Amino acid sequence: MRLEGKVAIITGAGRGIGKEAARLFAKEGARVIACDVMEEWVKGLGEEVKGIEGYKLDVTDRGMIEEVVKDVYERYGKIDVLVNNAGITRDALFVKMKEEDWDRVIEVNLKGVFNMTQVVVPYMVKGGGGSIINTSSVVGIYGNIGQTNYAASKAGLIGMTKVWAKELGRYGIRVNAVAPGFIKTPMTEKLPEKVVNIVLDRTPLRRMGEPIEVAYVYLFLASDESSFITGQVIGVDGGLVI
Ligand code: NAI
Repeated sequence: MRLEGKVAIITGAGRGIGKEAARLFAKEGARVIACDVMEEWVKGLGEEVKGIEGYKLDVTDRGMIEEVVKDVYERYGKIDVLVNNAGITRDALFVKMKEEDWDRVIEVNLKGVFNMTQVVVPYMVKGGGGSIINTSSVVGIYGNIGQTNYAASKAGLIGMTKVWAKELGRYGIRVNAVAPGFIKTPMTEKLPEKVVNIVLDRTPLRRMGEPIEVAYVYLFLASDESSFITGQVIGVDGGLVI
């Protein structure tokens, strides 16, 4: 029970990595607030696994975030962990990328994390500490063809992680980023075989990752086992260098 008694908010918990993390955190004793813009995906999860509660939450909607976070705090009296896992892609080559696709990816992946964290942090300060985990990507480190908007958002997350680690450390709040490589989730299932083969070629472990392999790193960073770790970017990528 590595998260016994902790209250954890996970965004984008309706499927993929976030869903796997919600299940793992609940198994490890946390009260999990599983948030997703797709309400039916998280509601079902709440009925399926003890310790998980599903909430409809859009990370781009500041008013909705304030309501949900306040409700969680009033019910449980604290928030220990925030996993900013929600993210989207809208890929296109740079010269063809539509302005609306740039805006949407930045709004969800970057501003969504700003929104969530700014609302949650005052409650963590009141509670005397916490752990914030931001889901970046190898693409935010190395770049990737067709992902100008996504790479900008995920690199931006690394910058924010380092700033917040410096600003919030004095309150006992740790802030780290996780940078997954290519993980088998609905986000990657439509990738052309050619692209997958290129990625596998550049991955020393010669396979894609499983969502649980990212969830275990979230678990470590959320737990007290990582109590002296902050401002770090942890790769979960099978050794991939794009
Ligand atoms: P996914 O597409 O399977 O799941 C993302 C979840 O986020 C969905 O349930 C979706 O409804 C939710 N979501 C989307 N917009 C939202 C919003 N505005 N508010 C709240 N929730 C919203 O994606 P996956 O693969 O599980 O990815 C999770 C995180 O990991 C993302 O941040 C992604 O960028 C990152 N990542 C994924 C990699 C992969 O290979 N799958 C690689 C590197 C990073």
